[in-house]
Amino acid sequence: MKPREHFGSRFAVIAAMAGSAVGLGNIWRFPYILGQYGGAAFVLVYIVASLLVALPIFFAESVIGRRSGTDTFGAMKKLAPGTPWKWAGLLTILSPLLILSYYSVVGGWSVQFLFKALSFNITGDVSESEVVGYFSRFISSTWQPILSHTLFMAMVAGIVLGGIKNGIERFSKVAMPVLLGLILFIVVYSLTLPGSMAGLRYLLKPDFSKLTADAYAAALGQAFFSLSLGVGTVLTYASYVKKEENLVVSGVGTAVSDLVFALVAAFAIMPAVFAAGFEPGSGPGLVFQTLPYIFHKMSQGMPIVSTLVSVAFFLSILAAALTSAISMLEVGVAYLVDQKGMGRRRATLLLSLGVWLLGLLCSLSFGPLSGVKVLGLSFFDLQDALCSNWLMPMGGLVFTLFVGWWMSRADVRDELTNGGTCNVRLFGLVYFLMRYLAPVGIVAVFLSNLFL
Ligand code: TRP
Repeated sequence: MKPREHFGSRFAVIAAMAGSAVGLGNIWRFPYILGQYGGAAFVLVYIVASLLVALPIFFAESVIGRRSGTDTFGAMKKLAPGTPWKWAGLLTILSPLLILSYYSVVGGWSVQFLFKALSFNITGDVSESEVVGYFSRFISSTWQPILSHTLFMAMVAGIVLGGIKNGIERFSKVAMPVLLGLILFIVVYSLTLPGSMAGLRYLLKPDFSKLTADAYAAALGQAFFSLSLGVGTVLTYASYVKKEENLVVSGVGTAVSDLVFALVAAFAIMPAVFAAGFEPGSGPGLVFQTLPYIFHKMSQGMPIVSTLVSVAFFLSILAAALTSAISMLEVGVAYLVDQKGMGRRRATLLLSLGVWLLGLLCSLSFGPLSGVKVLGLSFFDLQDALCSNWLMPMGGLVFTLFVGWWMSRADVRDELTNGGTCNVRLFGLVYFLMRYLAPVGIVAVFLSNLFL
């Protein structure tokens, strides 16, 4: 058997892990959820939830991944031989594939909008209803979204086929800096629009009256999704991290990058929304309906500017979605390679095909299959609800309980401090958060999903 691959440097580890974390969750989901829960106050809660609850779970997954050096199922089998923990590991192989099947549909939308960005803006005067209506017509049609979903999945498979060093690492090291550059460009554009200061005020001035109990659960749920927790992506990536690497530093680097990207995306979007006189709380259509129109309208008379901004925007969404999607596929690929001895090529193609097929159902659930409901939800919504509300928190709970209560304190300390050579003073705090605060936070999310 070939020796297992490793990420080449600290930058590579953080680029890949932050690549997984920074995705549609930051650019598409965070801004509209922020809009729904009233701006700055929500941001504060989100930051606290990310650092005190989500980050410790990230550490827990990293500890399991690097200590075992294998996939999620193998990791549990190795660290807790002869116990049922491995079944929990198996569950976390299925959930990222499930997530990928609908994530890829939205990733496909960004492919479509990237192509469309060019024609959208050069066609002179387009009314708001045309732009907004375009999205609804597009997602409810049959073939176009399927084609985009196919293109997106093909790109994901292409990168994962390359392996850790030549695929995932190489792509993430280029995509992440490009992504940052593109978004900063949009921030500058957005802040120079007349009337954008209202958006800035909205992001900076907290309105605590909007913070309902619901908002806390939403913040924690968002932090979970955004850091890719609970489904083995962090664990799997950590299994490719070298023994000398400092896990606390790369974890903090990832969480901070994730926060920064979410905030920068909000600063790119909200000022433009306010400048154009739109509602910040308009929901999931914000990025695909409101923004294309805003870019068009605010650059009146200068089609080249609106084209540039739109292309930059959808390219950034595509890059962010790709670096996340590859991490979801890698969880299953690692399992087939490590446990079943399958070649990477076969494993990647097999899983991509399965995910692609399942994605077809999600894609069609906006159009021809929109009448088909399970438990009152379309396939797309059902998968999202199942994953975000149940599988992810459940996986997170399994990982923190495993590290906080099953593994010995000495082993956890050994892994997080690299045998007592670093982070020694921080260890007590991190361990406390992993053992107590994180599980309590997750249970709170569960309860709120049940009762709110
Ligand atoms: N964190 C990514 C985002 O914000 C999405 C993502 C990647 C993810 N891997 C995941 C979500 C695993 C859940 C589970 O878009």
